[in-house]
Amino acid sequence: MQPHDNVPLPDYIEYDEGEMRARAAEFLADIRRRHTVRDFSDRPVPQEIIEDCIRAAATAPSGANHQPWHFALIKDPDIKAKVRLRAEAEERGFYDERKAGEEWLDALAPLGTDASKPYLESAPWLIAIFAQRRGGVEVGMERKNYYVAESVGIATGFLIAALHNAGLATLTHTPKPMNFLNEICGRPEHERAFILLVAGYPTEGATVPKHALIKKQFEDIVTIL
Ligand SMILES: Cc1cc2nc3c(=O)[nH]c(=O)nc-3n(C[C@H](O)[C@H](O)[C@H](O)COP(=O)(O)O)c2cc1C
Repeated sequence: MQPHDNVPLPDYIEYDEGEMRARAAEFLADIRRRHTVRDFSDRPVPQEIIEDCIRAAATAPSGANHQPWHFALIKDPDIKAKVRLRAEAEERGFYDERKAGEEWLDALAPLGTDASKPYLESAPWLIAIFAQRRGGVEVGMERKNYYVAESVGIATGFLIAALHNAGLATLTHTPKPMNFLNEICGRPEHERAFILLVAGYPTEGATVPKHALIKKQFEDIVTIL
């Protein structure tokens, strides 16, 4: 293929305006039901469902189309136990030894989170997302990647939406620091552990912090020019 080759836009579907309105409203109603969950059941979730959600994430736009991401799908109970052990050790420093600093801990207080992370073992799936500083559009390339955090952030958003759409709950977890995930998942140094996404069913009595339900009003986040 020549560098500037184009092909006809594949798969585009145009809806009439009524259907567009209905689809926009439907998506809004559905995504509004997404909440970060911290009480996960150990009910298994078939691997194929997680795999399709990853495929959805991998359709995300990315800088120069380098797709600078890697997803480690963790189901093995021994590996989950290792992740929990290391994450809780980091989180004890963050919360209990107050390494996070008072301002950050104060911001987190209404969520009621602490160093204990039992869901890292109970949830059926942990998805460790890595951001690649180097790579390229084809596997094995060794070029610089661009807008890495933006690209992996967008792919992670797609993934969270895909998992929610499939009927699964997620937790965006970011133990700090997170580089122990490179070691556990066998990922190279040029990859940065970006987010540890926990996915599964919520427990029956799962709760969410009231604080998380505060969402800014449309008028407060939008300027129409
Ligand atoms: C980048 C990022 C990092 C987060 N890290 C954590 C975390 O380490 N532990 C946790 O319990 N929640 C974490 N969260 C979840 C947020 O607390 C949660 O999204 C927020 O309270 C709003 O709740 P909602 O997702 O239910 O709307 C994180 C969210 C994001 C986007």
